[in-house]
Parts: sequence; structure tokens; C-alpha cells
Amino acid sequence: MGSRTYNIITFGCQMNEHDSETISGMLSRLGYTEVPDREAADITVINTCSIRENADKRFFGTLGQLKKIKAVNPAQVTCVCGCMMQQEHVVREIKQSYPWVDIIFGTHNIHEFPQMLEELYRAREEEGRTEPLAGENMTPAEYNRAKHEIRSSRNTRVERIYEDSPEIVEGLPVNRKYRHKSFVNIMYGCNNFCTYCIVPYTRGREKSRHPEDILNEVRELACDGVREITLLGQNVNSYRGVSSETGRQWDFPELIYALDRIEGVDRIRFMTSHPKDLSDRLIKAFAECDSLCGYIHLPVQAGSSRVLKRMNRKYTREEYLELVRKLRDAVPGISISTDIIVGFPGESEEDFADTLSLAEEVRFDSAFTFLYSPRKGTPAAEMENQIPETVKHERFNRLVEVMNRCSSEKNAAYVGRVEKVLIEGEGREPGSLKGRTDSFKLVDFRGPADLIGEMVDVEIVDSNTFSLRGELK
Ligand code: 5AD
Ligand code: SF4
Repeated sequence: MGSRTYNIITFGCQMNEHDSETISGMLSRLGYTEVPDREAADITVINTCSIRENADKRFFGTLGQLKKIKAVNPAQVTCVCGCMMQQEHVVREIKQSYPWVDIIFGTHNIHEFPQMLEELYRAREEEGRTEPLAGENMTPAEYNRAKHEIRSSRNTRVERIYEDSPEIVEGLPVNRKYRHKSFVNIMYGCNNFCTYCIVPYTRGREKSRHPEDILNEVRELACDGVREITLLGQNVNSYRGVSSETGRQWDFPELIYALDRIEGVDRIRFMTSHPKDLSDRLIKAFAECDSLCGYIHLPVQAGSSRVLKRMNRKYTREEYLELVRKLRDAVPGISISTDIIVGFPGESEEDFADTLSLAEEVRFDSAFTFLYSPRKGTPAAEMENQIPETVKHERFNRLVEVMNRCSSEKNAAYVGRVEKVLIEGEGREPGSLKGRTDSFKLVDFRGPADLIGEMVDVEIVDSNTFSLRGELK
């Protein structure tokens, strides 16, 4: 068992990345070792994302590659999990067109993976007894061919998917990707049902962890040398964790204040927050909590109140601008990033002009811009007046131009400043390191690799659209 290996392929957001860290943790506990080479692995896991069509396509492309590996190594265990598995039509397609997939599980039962693996091995063993026996008038070559045919036509599959789950399973092992920083889930699921979004269907309803479970996890991480934590949730602002000690409900600002008091954690970040739930108390926490970083990811999605209404975002353009004003009043120089969707059904040229003007007005530090992608089962996919691809692309390019200009200007303003940088790893060039400022800017600079994981002072000497260049002080 000791020499068995695995490889995990992860698509999608930080939530998925963190889930993969848990899958990795469980496999390590079972004695498996991670290998970078997919072909050599005994187990491959694809953790899928369904946020846009692009992610679906990449998943099926990867499955195609795995099929070739499986032809050579039929014993490899192929597992697929994550958001796409929460959609019936996807699972149906996998079973029809990729019958050699061995294990299928969803977003609500990652913890059952070790048990499912065991079931698969047991089933395979039992199946092995039906394999032809050598010596029954067969040459070794004939025996191997027959065995291979049986294996590749085998349809033993362990499949377990739950629509939703009220419970949160605590205490699962995690293999952290970084030594000095870590994700910490504070809540799961989403109740917002933005009309374009598949997440409420794939991740279920909101559930918050007990505050004590979160605080204990962060204390342990701090003891283990973690300096920066990123709190994860689809909408962290609607965190409502019930205390396991007092039964009282905590909200997000309360959790932040408690985390800020933990010794050893220098930086706290969170994502994602929904503008409709961004409270004045949270804005105040930015000013009062030393470890809360001067950075917020605040997806606006569109600059037109008419489109925002049809997206079911529950705020207007003006309300969003007001939030930005309040944040900048409370924390001068706070860095703000956003998500924007271009080409939502019915988006007129005027609506799009509103998005451009909002971008100019806010001057985001950075932005993730997306072409609207219809998702089966969501209300927007059924809306009339879907925007032609050519129009979407043309608007997308115009928006990216504005966004990149703002990012460049924002980054240029850092030149000459000395920033505290937490070093994440080696940089692109040999002998260089990369890290992040408090405001989440990526900085490249020369320095020795033994500084990785340390917080250092770096003077910013140059900038471009997506990063800064500096010199170690
Ligand atoms: N099409 C395009 N972008 C989408 N997003 C969510 N659903 C869709 C979709 N159907 C974007 C939103 C969200 C980010 C994670 O992905 O901007 O904030
Ligand atoms: Fe999707 Fe909206 Fe929930 Fe974010 S808040 S996950 S965009 S439904």
C-alpha cells in the first residue's frame, strides 16, 4: 500500500482548490503519495467546476486524455467529483460515454471518498475471481488479452451524490499547498440565486461552521507557522455560525474580530463577499482589525441597475458606488477587485456603457471579466434576447482595455513605496522570489529561497498591469 500514488486535477475556484487539499489529505492518510505524472498514478481524481461552459469543456477534454492512459493502464482508478457531478445530465453523460470512470461523488460527500475507494477495491477483487484462469488451454498472451478485455468492459462503479446535506463534517485531514498561508472554510453553499449562476444548485444551501471550530482551526494553523489565512465562502458576509458553547449566533464581523485576536496570524483575507450584505460593521472592522488586509474582492457583475435587477443581485449601481466610497473613507488606499459579466441576456449597448462608466468611476485594482455563459437550469439561460457571441466578445475587449488601464495606473502608484511582502515561493526567473503585499499585489524580486514563508520589506521599483517588481530592503 505504501508505494501507491495519486494525482489530482483541479478546476475552478479556491473552494475547489481547498476541497482538493482535503482529498489529498485523505489519500495521504491512507498511505498514498502524490505524483506529478498522471500516467504513473494509481489513482487520478478530477475535481470539476461548472461555473462556465469553458470549465465543462476542459473537463471532458481531460477525461479524453485519461481514457488513453486507462487503455495502457486499466488498473488506474479514475475518480470524478466536484460541482459538475451535482448536475444529473453530466452524470448521465459520463455513465453513457465514459463507462470506465470508477468513482463518482459530489460536493456534499468528499468525506466518503476513502470508503468509496475501499468499496471499489473490494468489488474489483470479487470481480477478479471471474477472470479466466491461466492453464485453461490459453497461452499467456491470450490470457492477458482476455483479462484486459474483461477489465476494460468492466462497469463496476461506485457512485454517490447527494442533492444537499445539512451537516458539516469537521476534522478532515488537509494537505496544504503552502506552508505559510492557508484557506479556511467558514461556510458552504449559497442562497442568493443570482439568475446566471449554477452555484446554488451545485453547492446547496448556506451552512455556517461553528465559530469555535473555525477559531480552533486557525489557532492550530498559527501554531503550525501559518501567517496568512483566507476565509472562504460563496458569500462570507452572510456567515451565521451558531456557537457550540453558548448557542448564540455569530455574524461575520464578530468572527473577524475574534480571529484578529489570535496570536501569530498576521494577515486575514476573505472571499467572496456579496455587496448586498456588506455591513457598516464589517467596513469598520477593516479600520480596527490590524490583521485584516486592506483588500476586498467585491463582485459588481454589471454597472447597469436594470441588468443588476435581472441578475437578481439585490443592489443598484448607486448602492455599489456608495459601498466603495465608504470602504475608501474607512481605509484610504484599500485595494478593490471585482468580477464582471459581459453579455448578460438583454444587455443593451446603453447597459454596457454603464458597466464601462462604473469601471472608470471605481477604478478597480483588478478585475475578472467573464463572457456570459448560459448554464442549464438557471433562469437566465431561459431568458429571451441572448446576446450574440460576436457582440459579447467585442464588449469584452472594450471592458478589458479599461480594466487593464486602471490596473496599470493603480500599480504604477506603488513605485517608490516600501511594502511588507509575504513571500510565497520562487519567482519566474531563476534567483527571484514572488510574494504578495497586504493589498494582494503580486511582487517579483531577487532574494534567497530560504526566505520563502517570511514577511519582508520590499521597495517597489517598477510595475506593469498585473504585477510589481521590487528590491529587497
Ligand atoms: N457566466 C459567466 N460568468 C459567470 N459567473 C458566474 N456564473 C457565470 C455565468 N453563467 C462569474 C461571476 C462570479 C464569478 C465567480 O463567475 O462573475 O462572480
Ligand atoms: Fe453565484 Fe450569486 Fe451565489 Fe455568488 S452570490 S455563488 S454569483 S448565486
